[in-house]
Amino acid sequence: METGLIRGLHHITLCTATAQGDVDFFVKVMGQRFIKRTLFYDGRIPIYHLYISDAQGTPGTVMTTFPMRRTGLVGRKGSGQFTAIAYSVPGRSIDFWREHFGRNGVRVEEDSERFGERYLRVVHAGIDFEVVEDPNDPRAPWKSEYVPDQYAVRGFHNWTLTVRELEDMKSFMTDAWYFRQTMEDGRFTRFEANGGGGGRRIDVLHAPDLRQGTWTLAEGIVHHGAFDVPDYDAQARVKFDTEGMGFTDCSDRKNRGYFESVYVRTPGGVMFEATKSLGFKMDEDESMLGTELKISPQFDVSHDDLRKLMQVEDPIHV
Ligand SMILES: [Fe+2]
Repeated sequence: METGLIRGLHHITLCTATAQGDVDFFVKVMGQRFIKRTLFYDGRIPIYHLYISDAQGTPGTVMTTFPMRRTGLVGRKGSGQFTAIAYSVPGRSIDFWREHFGRNGVRVEEDSERFGERYLRVVHAGIDFEVVEDPNDPRAPWKSEYVPDQYAVRGFHNWTLTVRELEDMKSFMTDAWYFRQTMEDGRFTRFEANGGGGGRRIDVLHAPDLRQGTWTLAEGIVHHGAFDVPDYDAQARVKFDTEGMGFTDCSDRKNRGYFESVYVRTPGGVMFEATKSLGFKMDEDESMLGTELKISPQFDVSHDDLRKLMQVEDPIHV
């Protein structure tokens, strides 16, 4: 199997409730940096697209959200979706996180173990998040005023996706997406890319009787997960090989401002993206990241008016 075409996780995109709710949860509870505020690059309705990550949007740390409450669209969770997002935290930090969630009014829904690792599960905007102890994660954290360095999030540990048909997703993960199956634990199968470790794991949860979840943008669901490719040649190769397996609905490359993306609907319905980074500093200096709304290209209207409208409809106070 070829390695290096998919380097690991890049970003994951959620349909949440409100912009302020996302800032409060990801910045003030999870201790991440708000690095970019822009708009959905498709469609005619302006919807915020917010990016929250480590210091500079390193692949494998980037959470992106579409706050959907103001559209009135509500999704249905189910199979064929990413269903949990796990953040990597240092060894012996679970007790801190339990207390930290409590102090911030976030209820711990489950305290469990899988693959020999300790998990706390919480819910934000109807979506499941986990913190997992990983004493071997070498990634440097963002220095947050809300979480001390020794407990801080290192990036994504893994994402869970849920499917009804396990065998079809297994072959997609290994043959189209260059992951290796490494472990099984009950209904979970773990896949790792590029040597494995933090930011390189996908856990597949087999749920043969679970109804298909919503694919459209709608509050309370994960829309897609994106994977990091090193360059355009690797991205083209991933698309070529995926189409060669019969996945003819692989999209053309789309410019998303801060990266370029190719999408494919995987077996079981989960949407994957292969992403070539362009960087988040192309339109803002390091110190100013995330401070001004950047208007996406399809809106041929006054940028000042659109900024005012969004601040009225879905206000953000950092
Ligand atoms: Fe994406």
